Amino acid sequence: MQIPITARLKTVAELMEETDVLCDIGCDHGYLPIYLIAQKKIKKAYACDLRDGPLKTASRNISAFHMKDCIQTVKSNGLRELTALTYDTISVCGMGGRLIAEILANDLDNAYRAKQLVLQPQSEIPVLRKFLAENGFLICEEKIAVEDRRYYVVMSVIKGEEVNRDEMSFILGRKLLERKDDITKRYFTKELQRFQTILQARGGETNAPDVQKIICELEKYV
Ligand SMILES: C[S@@+](CC[C@H](N)C(=O)[O-])C[C@H]1O[C@@H](n2cnc3c(N)ncnc32)[C@H](O)[C@@H]1O
Repeated sequence: MQIPITARLKTVAELMEETDVLCDIGCDHGYLPIYLIAQKKIKKAYACDLRDGPLKTASRNISAFHMKDCIQTVKSNGLRELTALTYDTISVCGMGGRLIAEILANDLDNAYRAKQLVLQPQSEIPVLRKFLAENGFLICEEKIAVEDRRYYVVMSVIKGEEVNRDEMSFILGRKLLERKDDITKRYFTKELQRFQTILQARGGETNAPDVQKIICELEKYV
């Protein structure tokens, strides 16, 4: 039976270092830890979720793939129940950037205990980048995943000091700007079009110097 892993979660798996124990926060269906075990990238996982429905679905899928010995479901609000667990890596994927930041902020000590965090915010990405920089986290890699013609940002994060703390870095992502692959170029071309539309809606040049700065930066890139 093939694991129905999406291109987005495959990119999350790609950015994850080989590790012993993963805590997947907001596991829903549980396919990320199932895929990572099958790939032998992790040895054990805690599939965590706030709600019973997703935990039941994850449990069913874990059983279907005969992985009950290595993946345990845990009911947890964010990182709350991680205090009693031993782990190396945390993943938080498919949630808004602000919610991911809140989840980390609510249990910072548990977040700091991870050697690596792989985060995949669906929205409000600048909010998350700013939170990480201001709370002792360093984004060491960012990558774009494409699924159904939608672009998703995936980030690999460790404890450390972020030197890029300016608004532009939070908005565009310094690590993404360093990438010159086709997918990243297409992503930034779309971003450029989005900001050009915002500028037009604001009535042109003089009213929106902030948007103009972003457009200038993106024009240098694409
Ligand atoms: C859209 S799904 C994403 C599932 C999966 N991580 C993915 O990327 O495909 C979001 C999941 O996060 C869970 N969730 C939302 N807030 C949470 C929180 N504070 N703690 C744990 N899980 C949460 C929801 O119950 C839901 O199952």
